[in-house]
Amino acid sequence: MNPSQGMLKPDSFKGKTILVTGGGTGLGRSMGKYLLELGANLVISSRKKDVIDKTAQELMKETGGNVLAVPCDIRKYEEVEQLIVAAEKEFGPLHGVLNNAAGNFISPTERLSHRAFDIIVDIVLRGTYYVTLAAGKNWISKKQAGTFLNIVTTYAWTGSGYVVPSACGKAGVLALTRSLAVEWAKYNIRSNAIAPGPFPTEGAWSRLLPGELAKQFDPAKRIPLKRVGEHQELANLAAYLLSDYSAYVTGEVVTIDGGEWLKNGGEFSHLDQVTDEMWNMFEKTRK
Ligand code: HXC
Ligand code: NAP
Repeated sequence: MNPSQGMLKPDSFKGKTILVTGGGTGLGRSMGKYLLELGANLVISSRKKDVIDKTAQELMKETGGNVLAVPCDIRKYEEVEQLIVAAEKEFGPLHGVLNNAAGNFISPTERLSHRAFDIIVDIVLRGTYYVTLAAGKNWISKKQAGTFLNIVTTYAWTGSGYVVPSACGKAGVLALTRSLAVEWAKYNIRSNAIAPGPFPTEGAWSRLLPGELAKQFDPAKRIPLKRVGEHQELANLAAYLLSDYSAYVTGEVVTIDGGEWLKNGGEFSHLDQVTDEMWNMFEKTRK
């Protein structure tokens, strides 16, 4: 067994329809692909029609599954409502929503214009609650069960300098996840989140590690398990949390980061730079 293998039983998603926002690229594409392999009907959406159309064609070819690509800017509520109508028209009832779309960049906060702050929070938080509200109202009015899975990050609860708009947006998404897990449990709607550490994607790497930064701050070096994540590892977790296997899990945020955030929060974590020779010396002086 290795982390690049699928985990769930084949056909775990047979007859299920899942919407993945930002499903044309990066992690959304990888998670969507695995759901297709497990038998789901997949709806992918993002702003760029050409990107999602191309991904839909590729995924259908690679998996033999059904993919509907619907252009939608999640900051526009009418477009979100139309997205859900289009999904149901194609595949019937929607069973799960993977809120994956996001925007991000690095910058000292004092250099940001107010518009730059807005643009990120609007995608990450407003976009996520628009999709959640539209899908939730639809499920509740039709007395259907449903599952939300929201992609956040570990700085949703630690905060982080240089990505402050994203941190604020993701913290809001985490609050939304936990709040609705309780409020909408009576409608049989579950709500969970995943907090990934670094998983290489073009979208994240180009914006968060531009130029020389990727070499200078190799994320793998800061991670106790000494590597970045593999997309299939995330896809396995996402599929579990969207599936009925996790029917009793709600309001949870699962971290998948190789130990990164705990290490960086740990008061003495920097002691991994102490060499064996130094430890031997301390031991001698102690005895
Ligand atoms: C400072 C910036 C900026 C930057 C844009 N702005 N880029 N400010 N630093 N690098 C400012 C602009 O000056 C402008 O403000 C405002 O933001 C809007 O810029 P636009 O370019 O008009 O916005 P738009 O074309 O809508 O692009 C949105 C975007 C873009 C977020 C900037 O990068 C995008 O579309 N991203 C989507 C995908 C994405 O970001 N993926 C990465 C997710 S990774 P003014 O005032 O000048 O008009 C992720 C990982 C988290 O979230 C955790 C990792 C461990
Ligand atoms: P990505 O490929 O850039 O994915 C972001 C997606 O969001 C894109 O497909 C983008 O498509 C879509 N999007 C952006 N604004 C949108 C809008 N207004 N309406 C609809 N769709 C929009 O980056 P990624 O790395 O795969 O990130 C996916 C998710 O994982 C994000 O939530 C990110 O915060 C999270 N995450 C990533 C990492 C990592 O290491 N990669 C770590 C932690 C968390 P369009 O531009 O076509 O709209």
